[in-house]
Amino acid sequence: MDIIEKATEILDQGFVVGMPTETVYGLAARIDRPAGIESIFKVKERPFFDPLIVHVASLDQARALTTDWSSGAQALAQAFWPGPLTLVLPKSSFVNSMITSGLETVGIRMPNHPLALELIRAVGVPLAAPSANKFGRTSPTRADHVQEEFKNENVLVIDGGPCQVGLESTVLSLHFSQSERKYQLAILREGAISRAQIEKIMLEQNLPFQFQENPSKRESPGQMKHHYMPKIPLIIIQPDRDLSKVKEELKQKISELPDQIEGVTLIRPTQLDVFYELTLPRDPVLAARELYQRLREGGQSQADVIYFRLMPEVHTPEWAALRDRLFKAASLVLG
Ligand code: TXA
Ligand code: MG
Repeated sequence: MDIIEKATEILDQGFVVGMPTETVYGLAARIDRPAGIESIFKVKERPFFDPLIVHVASLDQARALTTDWSSGAQALAQAFWPGPLTLVLPKSSFVNSMITSGLETVGIRMPNHPLALELIRAVGVPLAAPSANKFGRTSPTRADHVQEEFKNENVLVIDGGPCQVGLESTVLSLHFSQSERKYQLAILREGAISRAQIEKIMLEQNLPFQFQENPSKRESPGQMKHHYMPKIPLIIIQPDRDLSKVKEELKQKISELPDQIEGVTLIRPTQLDVFYELTLPRDPVLAARELYQRLREGGQSQADVIYFRLMPEVHTPEWAALRDRLFKAASLVLG
């Protein structure tokens, strides 16, 4: 039996499987198996208020999940699927409320990974999948990250190699306002597809639109202040800071370092001797591919803390998604 058949069987039985995608690895369950959906939350230790993304292998599957497959949704799906864009649309009755955390909308995307698409086709039903990490922790970009994360839960992981994108999809909510006669768009999470790319498609297709600048917490329930955190604190420092001065400053602030953030436990250092420098390529595409692997390496090293020098690139629009992840993963930002 090959791995796809084996995974299909496990999913049929209402359990979860580690699935490769181009962004990060997901922890997948069939949307029509409530036991499977429940075990995603259990295995991940994820709170029930944070909704799951549903993964499809065809536009027909996507259409069946929503009551409003508009021309806007069609244009964006055509432009970016399979790929790292999640569309948040009104849910149909095929999607149960555990998946959407009680919201009337559902996040849908078609992943750009041959094994993910093969798995969804073999199962014949869309798969709900959050990133395959424990809640609040660094997302996995390699099969062995998932093995390591769930070593106690005995999860089958399909090895699809290192993720090519390395950061989660852009989450975009979209609805056509009849009164204003235009699409209301809101980026609920930054990702590989930029706002400029989305705008370009809407303009090319002559679809009137407007971006909502600060989506409310209700619309974007999974957006915590902290997330993606390595096991030891990540400290962001200014690029020109002298490391020995940083060490001095940190020693004063060691008691300010939390041992828990938003319910996620961190190892608070008792000493500040060994520093692990997180360095990233200047090219944001390459940096995205490496970020989570590097955060994991730092977390598993003998270091007391990880530090990252805030290089000037980080402030550019191309770094928007990376910037979001770095600041959410950080325990402290030194001025
Ligand atoms: O790239 C990705 O999106 C990866 C791969 C596995 O596909 N998945 C992923 O899932 O990152 P997760 O659960 O870690 O993050 C999903 C995000 C959460 O912030 C959640 O709140 C948001 O998407 N989301 C999902 N459904 C939503 C909805 N109906 N309304 C608003 N936000 C939603
Ligand atoms: Mg996640």
